[in-house]
Amino acid sequence: MKLTWNRFSPGVWRAETGSEPITLTGLSGVDPAPGLREGPEADFPVDVEADETSEFLVLRIPLSDEERIFGCGLRFHSIVCRNTVVHLRADHYHGNDDGRTHAPVPFFVSTGGYGFFADTPDPVSIYIGTTQRLSDKPEVEERDRATDPQWRCYNSPEFVEIAIRSKKARLVVFAGGIGKCVARFNLYCGGGFIPPKWGLKLWHRTGMSMTGRDVLALVGEYEKRKFPLGVIGLEPGWQSNSYPCSYEWSTRNFPEPEKLLDDLKQRGIRVNLWENPYISEKSELFRELKPFSADHLVWGGIVPDYTLEPVRSAIKRHHAKHHLALGVGGYKLDESDGYDCWLWPDHARFPSGTPGASYRNLCGLLFERITSELYRENGRRTCGLTRSGNAGGCSFPYVLYNDRYDFREYLAGLCSCGFAGVLWTPEVRTAANGDEFLRRIQLAALSPMLVINAWADNTVPWSFPEVEDAVRAALALRTKLTPYLYSAFARYHFEGVPPYRSLFMDYGYFLSDNRRSGKLDSTKNPYQEVVQKDITDQFLLGDSLMAAPLEPGKRSRTVLFPPGKWFDFHTGEFVSDGGAKTIEVPENAPLPLFAPDGAVVPLEENGRIEIRHFGTKPGEFVLYDDDGESFDYERGKFTRTVLKSDGSRQVETVPGAGMTPRSE
Ligand code: GAL
Repeated sequence: MKLTWNRFSPGVWRAETGSEPITLTGLSGVDPAPGLREGPEADFPVDVEADETSEFLVLRIPLSDEERIFGCGLRFHSIVCRNTVVHLRADHYHGNDDGRTHAPVPFFVSTGGYGFFADTPDPVSIYIGTTQRLSDKPEVEERDRATDPQWRCYNSPEFVEIAIRSKKARLVVFAGGIGKCVARFNLYCGGGFIPPKWGLKLWHRTGMSMTGRDVLALVGEYEKRKFPLGVIGLEPGWQSNSYPCSYEWSTRNFPEPEKLLDDLKQRGIRVNLWENPYISEKSELFRELKPFSADHLVWGGIVPDYTLEPVRSAIKRHHAKHHLALGVGGYKLDESDGYDCWLWPDHARFPSGTPGASYRNLCGLLFERITSELYRENGRRTCGLTRSGNAGGCSFPYVLYNDRYDFREYLAGLCSCGFAGVLWTPEVRTAANGDEFLRRIQLAALSPMLVINAWADNTVPWSFPEVEDAVRAALALRTKLTPYLYSAFARYHFEGVPPYRSLFMDYGYFLSDNRRSGKLDSTKNPYQEVVQKDITDQFLLGDSLMAAPLEPGKRSRTVLFPPGKWFDFHTGEFVSDGGAKTIEVPENAPLPLFAPDGAVVPLEENGRIEIRHFGTKPGEFVLYDDDGESFDYERGKFTRTVLKSDGSRQVETVPGAGMTPRSE
């Protein structure tokens, strides 16, 4: 089967199989961002062989020995993908990086200079160096495992095989280094979102059954203790029915929602509402949406088909009346990822004809679309939380979370999310002790969204008095870093560069690896599989900082410094010339943060910006600003100020234009 690749923009090509394939980006309703038009041009970077079976469209790409693959959806244990398989399906995540995840994004990028995106909602499986074909036989060398120590479970030649459960798909190839391919992918999907400024403040999600009165008491306590709060998130009990949802206020718990919201607004606090997609017969929407719903129920509620325009506009109309009119700031879109034991089955029928399995990959994305469009149509920015997303949703202002609570997984999620075109928040719930609570707060305070999710345990920042001062310091650092983070989001929007990145995205796969010698262990590793060297506990935030969080209960850790000189963010002292180093972290000390030579970091305190320069190399930082609330920045109403390490600054106002990428 021959694919015809058409140039779409510099370094981006598309090919289609079948006529008018349904795509994730088409269903998201978002156009590619203008930044995609920026160069450089490139040659088509890879050989893609296409084939069709009775069930699948299959693509095959050669994989060289030193090549590493990143992406394949949001992951929580490993970032490097090699000799592994993912079956990408939206799921609540059950502990394995096998493709069942909150963001089953069918995109990956290779150190071989290309990125690949299967722009389809249909199930996609990616086999990375695991398959052999009969036609490869002449090149495959057989070995006798019993006698030959060179026997391996992976045979050369190796390939990436992508199997799409559909005959119609749009395929997209990107050229460039891994950072460039990711940026191009994000721009192709619409460019990253810029949150409203209030979205970067502290969020508190209330207990599940809290009343309006309880909320005011809680906010009063925050004020008394001087913990600045940005957002109150109301969990299920704000509705007259939840699981399934009415999306309408509980008159018992919230008799005067308008008054409550006004009161909170006066105190500078926004309100975010929890929802899931399943609609109760108690909702005004039930009758209208029943004919546009699946033939299966979830928790007794109907499952509306969000691919249909009348469904989207009915939900918008309803939410505008019951929520936006009262000043609600946004939503937490829960349960859209699904868990097999309560979700619709793959064989469920949706009125649009979308297969049940494909709708599962779409539900969260379209839930994001509806609510994002609602705010956009009202000229106000929103941001919120979601449990599933997909490609095409990069510009939707949502951050992913889940119910698991493993610290290392949460940290790995932050390292991996940039390769999946999404953002991840390691939310804080309760903790076994003050040390754990502090380490979790410190991590959340450096993440895309700082959330205390007290839905089931009523946690508050002062829950552990022994670390209260250190918690306060972590939250204060978040506030100081706000202009820095906001500028990182601007790069995400204009240039596609994720604000949270794996070290590999900026430095390549700089680890030495002995990929072919897995250690035989009859119980733990009978096939002598190789564990790839990986970095899942350090991440880059913005252009100038690297975080190496400390796990609860630990007092030291090893930090891997990429080549070059590195400095301690907190003390300014030189730490490393590159390579591994063990650092000691005293009790209650801040989260280890490092800056490379020449880094310039703006810090805000009481309306003043302090500029910190690390090391001796000259450097600069592009500080972005806008009104923080509206979409006027899309019409050029923003400022860029180039802050230089010599103390000079240069303000540029760029009317109507995107920022230009600063480097390849
Ligand atoms: C879970 C969600 C929690 C909380 C809870 C309320 O599904 O992950 O964060 O919102 O629902 O029932």
